[in-house]
Amino acid sequence: MTHIFAIANQKGGVGKTTTTVNLAASLARMNKKVLLVDLDPQGNATMGSGIEKNDLETSVYDVLVKKTSVGEVLQTAPEAGFDLLPSNSDLTAAEVELLGVEGRDHRLRDGLKNSQGSYDFILIDCPPSLNMLTVNALVAADGVLVPMQCEYYALEGLSALSQTVEAVSASLNPGLQIEGILRTMYDPRNKLSQEVSDQLIEFFSETVYRTIIPRNVRLAEAPSFGLPVIVYDKSSRGALAYIALAGEILRRHGRNDSHKSDDSNSETNINQSAPKDTADENSGNSAA
Ligand SMILES: Nc1ncnc2c1ncn2[C@@H]1O[C@H](COP(=O)(O)OP(=O)(O)OP(=O)(O)O)[C@@H](O)[C@H]1O
Ligand SMILES: [Mg+2]
Repeated sequence: MTHIFAIANQKGGVGKTTTTVNLAASLARMNKKVLLVDLDPQGNATMGSGIEKNDLETSVYDVLVKKTSVGEVLQTAPEAGFDLLPSNSDLTAAEVELLGVEGRDHRLRDGLKNSQGSYDFILIDCPPSLNMLTVNALVAADGVLVPMQCEYYALEGLSALSQTVEAVSASLNPGLQIEGILRTMYDPRNKLSQEVSDQLIEFFSETVYRTIIPRNVRLAEAPSFGLPVIVYDKSSRGALAYIALAGEILRRHGRNDSHKSDDSNSETNINQSAPKDTADENSGNSAA
């Protein structure tokens, strides 16, 4: 079975792209077949996966606007072991070009239909707004993974996103639900972070992932090398946190439905690597 997650939050800079790239790499390391869809014209997930966004001959724009097949646009992230539908600023034009086109909200879903059976997970990195691109992601997805920083206005932003998810599930995609809320860039020494985190658990209980992503400089450095953190520094706390998140997601969804045959290099093995704390700004736990 293929799980399709939109990684969405209309607030900018909360860790959507970092989560998409590093979760994709962690699931791939656990022998899952993963497709990352970069649905943001900023192309950050493309660059962070080691593919130069300015050299693309085709991109996700072609899938949405020209109905080019996914197979023609696909690339493989060089060091990370997942497939990628890359993006660049061409995608900015998609919204205007699709204006008035019938079925423009499900162009991505239509595009993925023929190839999605080859993947265990499809992760869609959304832009920081609730625009037509994000709606395409929500229509194609079966779950929404919401990265959020535990800050004062975070809960307010979450209600706008929840309303959009409800609106899409009421009309265009009845199966859609919030898959999980992920606390990112977490600093346990910050009292406000703790309070917001407590409120999140109170309101959303089980929907909040137990795994917490700490603030970790390795996570911020890795994209400039075009590498996921598990390749850049596999024993950093950022890498271990995203591996833990992948493990938690596999446990939530059962781990037996793999497209790859050998499951021996599993989360348990990877988690045995010793944490190296030198690169961290704080010393909090990466898992609640
Ligand atoms: N856990 C973390 N620790 C330290 N830095 C982080 C962490 N997560 C993300 N960052 C850094 O914070 C910045 C924003 O992260 P990211 O690009 O993932 O957010 P985003 O939600 O995708 O942003 P946008 O809304 O612009 O698409 C980046 O510079 C990233 O490297
Ligand atoms: Mg981003």
